Amino acid sequence: MMIGDFEVKVPESIRGLSQDEEYCTVVRDGEARRIRFHDYDEIYRIPGLYEYLFYERLKCTSHERVSSLLVDAVDAVNDDDTVVSDLAILELGAGNGLVGEALAERGVETIVGADIIEEAAEAAKRDRPDLYDRYYVEDFCTLGADVRDDLEGLELNCLVCVAALGFGDIPPEAFARAYNIVGNDGWVAFNIKEDFVDAADSTGFARLIKRVTDEGSLEIVESQSYRHRMSIDGEALNYVAIVGRKRFDISDATLSGGAPVSELRV
Ligand SMILES: C[S@@+](CC[C@H](N)C(=O)[O-])C[C@H]1O[C@@H](n2cnc3c(N)ncnc32)[C@H](O)[C@@H]1O
Repeated sequence: MMIGDFEVKVPESIRGLSQDEEYCTVVRDGEARRIRFHDYDEIYRIPGLYEYLFYERLKCTSHERVSSLLVDAVDAVNDDDTVVSDLAILELGAGNGLVGEALAERGVETIVGADIIEEAAEAAKRDRPDLYDRYYVEDFCTLGADVRDDLEGLELNCLVCVAALGFGDIPPEAFARAYNIVGNDGWVAFNIKEDFVDAADSTGFARLIKRVTDEGSLEIVESQSYRHRMSIDGEALNYVAIVGRKRFDISDATLSGGAPVSELRV
């Protein structure tokens, strides 16, 4: 497949790679280079490569799934609460804007993007220039007070995070810091690999989700298991999409659960 000047090859005969080992080879001017699917900086530098790999080739459905689940849940609240156009979303792990675009197509007007790498912000600006009201390049585990104040001043009422939790990407602590920026009674929509919400999960998300729901900080409105995408050897990768209401902040005690916060990092 040609993406701009690059010939992109996804190995089809390799079996059993884990999700964070999958890769493609890109060739330009006779020079071949291997790019792991989790090397987002390299992927975003090639316009169209992210869309080709995840959405075209591996049939990812999560941008549509999570955004429609959120919008349907907001629509279903049949009172004077927030309507979809009132949502002011913080999108954590926003990448180059595919999820933001799906949300905008469903009537969301205010989206603030955030990602840990500059290449994501640059790609979002290049590929979807008018989508985000602002885009922050930040590590939410170490968010400075000035940026936090800035974000809180935007009065965000929804957190969205798609295809970015676990696998050495967004750890529980960063998710919790972003969650706490959203106002009480705001909305939360995210997806996560099914294995990461199992009791045996070691990423810390299963524990965190259980605690926040038990304590009442997160009230789950809708939860759906579905096929996030295919692996390169054709296996279904199953995720859970969750939409809920944030009732109050996640405390440090809840986040750490008695263990040092560093142990919760993926
Ligand atoms: C698979 S991409 C998903 C992008 C977008 N949400 C989508 O679904 O198209 C994962 C994104 O999470 C970002 N990411 C990884 N670790 C992060 C962190 N600690 N904080 C914020 N973003 C992070 C990556 O840079 C990457 O852009």
